[in-house]
Amino acid sequence: MKKFLVFVLISVLVVLTFSGVIDEIKKRGYIIMGTEATFPPFEFVDKQTKQVVGFDVDIAKMIAKKLGVRLVIKDIAFDGLIPALMMNKIDMIVAAMTITPERAKMVSFSDPYFTAGQVIVVRKSDSFRPKSYEDLKGHRVGVQQGTTADIDVSKVKGVDIVRYTRFTDAFLDLAIGRTDAVVLDAAPAQAYVKFNPKLTISSPVLSEEKYGIAVRKEDKDLLDFINEVLKEMNSKTCYDFLVSLWF
Ligand code: ARG
Repeated sequence: MKKFLVFVLISVLVVLTFSGVIDEIKKRGYIIMGTEATFPPFEFVDKQTKQVVGFDVDIAKMIAKKLGVRLVIKDIAFDGLIPALMMNKIDMIVAAMTITPERAKMVSFSDPYFTAGQVIVVRKSDSFRPKSYEDLKGHRVGVQQGTTADIDVSKVKGVDIVRYTRFTDAFLDLAIGRTDAVVLDAAPAQAYVKFNPKLTISSPVLSEEKYGIAVRKEDKDLLDFINEVLKEMNSKTCYDFLVSLWF
């Protein structure tokens, strides 16, 4: 009898440890995507519907659809995304997040789904036209806290960095002269410049970065599933359609 109980206990433990997060997601009926939604065209709040929309949201919707569950979106600070994932508050990060070795120590990244790079945005009316990070020395520069722009610009000595949670605030401060420049990924930079004719991109693309979807290290089943969806999207030219829709 005792032996039998031990056997049952071990079997239950084995099932608990080996049934992956996908089972859990299917049981609860939704998958939670964490993002920071001031980053058009990847993720931003639609003025009319007040919903978070964009290229990343469509990819996440595809993942949810293939899993047969709903997509729930949590819009939080960018530097809070990895902690939120590790504390089980979200299932995946879809936030135009660059795959970096430091981040990859904490989370697993999917195959890359987008290639990007940093640019510098300034006021059109100014004569200041920085072409490199070095040119930012002696200036007040806005970045989003915890982004690759923050990491890269922090390495240059003599730059007065202002760190923001939301890009909307970073661009407001740039527009009214509280900062001299903002550094961010090229596609969102273009979106903000298009929206605000007072601003312009002054530099070439300064880095090469690849975006990945992040999951917890132990959620190998979800990682494999996401990679399958990304692969399928590419082969079905669904990806090209999304690019033409959002860019
Ligand atoms: N690609 C940059 C990074 O990974 C910026 C991403 C910002 N994304 C966002 N949704 N705010 O650091």
